[in-house]
Amino acid sequence: MVSSNYRGFVYLLHPTPELWTLVLPHRTQILYIADISFITAQLGLKPGVKMIESGTGSGSFSHSIARTIAPTGTLYSFEYHEERAKMAEREFKEHGYGDIIKMHHRDVCKEGFQLHDLVDAVFLDLPAPWDAIASAKQAFKQDRTGKICCFSPCIEQVARSVTALEQHGFVEITMYECLIKEHIVTPLQKFDFSAALQDARERKEKGLPPSDSFGVKRRLARDERTVTPQEIEEAANLMLVSKTIGETRGHTSYLTFATFLPFTTAS
Ligand SMILES: C[S@@+](CC[C@H](N)C(=O)[O-])C[C@H]1O[C@@H](n2cnc3c(N)ncnc32)[C@H](O)[C@@H]1O
Repeated sequence: MVSSNYRGFVYLLHPTPELWTLVLPHRTQILYIADISFITAQLGLKPGVKMIESGTGSGSFSHSIARTIAPTGTLYSFEYHEERAKMAEREFKEHGYGDIIKMHHRDVCKEGFQLHDLVDAVFLDLPAPWDAIASAKQAFKQDRTGKICCFSPCIEQVARSVTALEQHGFVEITMYECLIKEHIVTPLQKFDFSAALQDARERKEKGLPPSDSFGVKRRLARDERTVTPQEIEEAANLMLVSKTIGETRGHTSYLTFATFLPFTTAS
């Protein structure tokens, strides 16, 4: 669209959960796409899944999950901060997820989810997730396996969650940390190929196979005469190198996953 002052352009983007996560009003810490996508995969989320999340917070995670489980799934979202619960519910309706996300204003650590034999997956982003695990266990469909994830920034919280998960008979308890490692790809503009040329010639004379670390060596060994200085220059210009930035930043939280097994006798 032409901008209102006719001096530039405004790009209209189709709204997606990814964009919403980048611009939403922050009422709390939120989950970002790296963690959300990993959790989505590990919990096996797909259309039709019924799941629980708590707390709702700013609704970043909820938007992505609602899109994944739509049109037939249900996200039961629990938040004990009344104003946050109301704002999130309003946003879900405005964004067309009113039928998929069922918002509940409740302290799940004290009052539980009050759902039984209903859900396939549970996601806990709470300060004390271990207090909600007994209630989560009751909420799982009782005739099949289910998946739970606890999202906690501190390793002490992970330890307490693992203990509670074990006590309640969960299995396959695994913890991950999801970090984005950026690779910067740049074309290598200048490279001295004289050593490569010499090496290729010597190997050819000795009847050795080419040792190729730069595509140009393979071409030299195949037919030395066809390689011109210009070709070497072109190969050098085409070569891409990738390097990572020294420090990998971005710890968000530890992700503790476990599997609910039906018919377990543990407490
Ligand atoms: C970090 S935020 C969740 C952020 C959310 N996952 C997102 O991506 O936007 C944690 C939320 O849990 C809520 N909370 C904490 N303890 C709770 C409890 N016992 N029951 C329900 N909600 C709780 C807090 O009010 C807060 O809004």
